[in-house]
Amino acid sequence: MRVTLLSADVGSVKSDLVCLGVFGGKKNGNLSYDTMNGLLGGALGSVSKDDDFSGKPGETLVVHSLGNHSFKRASLIGCGKTSKISAKTFLTLGAQAARLGNKSAAKSVALSLPESDWDLETVLELVTRGAYLGSYRYDKYRSKSGRENSIKKLTLHITGKSSRKLSAAITKGRIVAESVAIGRDLVNEPPSDLYPQTFAAFAKKTASKVGLKIKILKPDQLAKMGMNLLLGVGQGSKQTPRLVHLSYKPAKATKKKPIVLVGKGITFDSGGLSLKPGASMVDMKMDMGGAGAVLGAMNAIAQLKPNVAVHGILALAENMPSGTAIRPGDVIKGASGRTVEINNTDAEGRLVLADALHYALGLKPAKIIDLATLTGACMVALGPHTVGCFSNDDELADGILGSANAVGESFWRLPLTEVLKEQLKSDIADTKNTGERWGGSITAALFLQEFVGGTTWAHLDIAGPALSGSNSGHLTKGGSGVAIATLVDHIC
Ligand code: BES
Ligand code: MN
Ligand code: ZN
Repeated sequence: MRVTLLSADVGSVKSDLVCLGVFGGKKNGNLSYDTMNGLLGGALGSVSKDDDFSGKPGETLVVHSLGNHSFKRASLIGCGKTSKISAKTFLTLGAQAARLGNKSAAKSVALSLPESDWDLETVLELVTRGAYLGSYRYDKYRSKSGRENSIKKLTLHITGKSSRKLSAAITKGRIVAESVAIGRDLVNEPPSDLYPQTFAAFAKKTASKVGLKIKILKPDQLAKMGMNLLLGVGQGSKQTPRLVHLSYKPAKATKKKPIVLVGKGITFDSGGLSLKPGASMVDMKMDMGGAGAVLGAMNAIAQLKPNVAVHGILALAENMPSGTAIRPGDVIKGASGRTVEINNTDAEGRLVLADALHYALGLKPAKIIDLATLTGACMVALGPHTVGCFSNDDELADGILGSANAVGESFWRLPLTEVLKEQLKSDIADTKNTGERWGGSITAALFLQEFVGGTTWAHLDIAGPALSGSNSGHLTKGGSGVAIATLVDHIC
């Protein structure tokens, strides 16, 4: 699909489907509404009355032009109340236009944007990202792709003049969407085909496409560096761990110290010897969502070229039970020199992250942001749609939360409650890997904090939103690519 910009009235344009974004209540806010309704002999008004179309967010209505016009179908897409406009309003508008187009086998779709006091660049970027992501499909494993009928062209109609800035906003929307799609693809990929080695190979392919530097550390190198926590988590599996180091260096850096992104990349989490019950294991191919998000974000960063160096670290392993797996009771000394008593092999994410965070410190970063599908407890706390954000720095936390809001993602800050550190005390080692049930996402974050020293750091627990349970707004069922847009906004 190509997204383009046109300053012309939608009614005069030849296209299979014309969409009008309209606000709820009085179906107002679209300058083309009266023209289109007039062309259709008042059909938009009367059908929406009969069908109770009230312009709720994402609500749609379609009427056929019966061959009398330059467009085959016309539709209204609800944008909700003007008092409730958010980034999601425009993401959903783009997504619904693309969905309607695909459903009605339209090759070309024209979308007339609703009038609002939002900055047009922002709106265009959001609508574009929404359109690409709403039409995202994962059909690699289907014998028939079903893409024959998908839209080829989406034209965004504006009333003012088009400009280079406005086109750049559309390009950015596309780049971010393609990067989010990388995150979705990786989460959706079956673990039989996506394991540390193949994940690293894909990262290499991606890096060479967009011009990132990449280093892939194999088990013998990891052993030399003392990364025994990462190696330990992977030692029950035939598929050996990898640590991938991607780097972006700007032509002119305005800041000396780099930003480091670190992602948990457990390509399948069976729980290890602390085996998960069957039902909890079903979705555990998604346990590399953090690493997928880091790779997706790096893909966008390489193209959007911020003036700061950014590194992406992927900690890749498969957590399996076997005769060679780590045991509850084992003590492992990781790269930082700290010893960890394993009391639950299912708390493996924090182990691989500990070694990856220590590696990140070696890059002397201004800040570290790690992303991980870390705890079920975070989903209990915040529900399945919200990312838990922990940080030792208020400015960083505020910045990330602000970016999330700007790009239409739901993040919420959670506390690093000091007293819970008690839970991680071990009788024989420097720390245990697991605390008690209560406050489980906090103790996980406190464990990670031990490995970042005093460095400015944020930990994003994406366990809930890494998977979307349904097609809604710009989300599609399956991998969501959550946090990628937020990271890109925060950095670029
Ligand atoms: N990968 C899981 C966390 C998870 C759970 C992600 C559900 C997505 C959905 C993680 O490795 C894990 O197993 N965490 C344990 C920690 C516990 C053993 C302290 C959990 O949440 O139960
Ligand atoms: Mn686990
Ligand atoms: Zn896990």
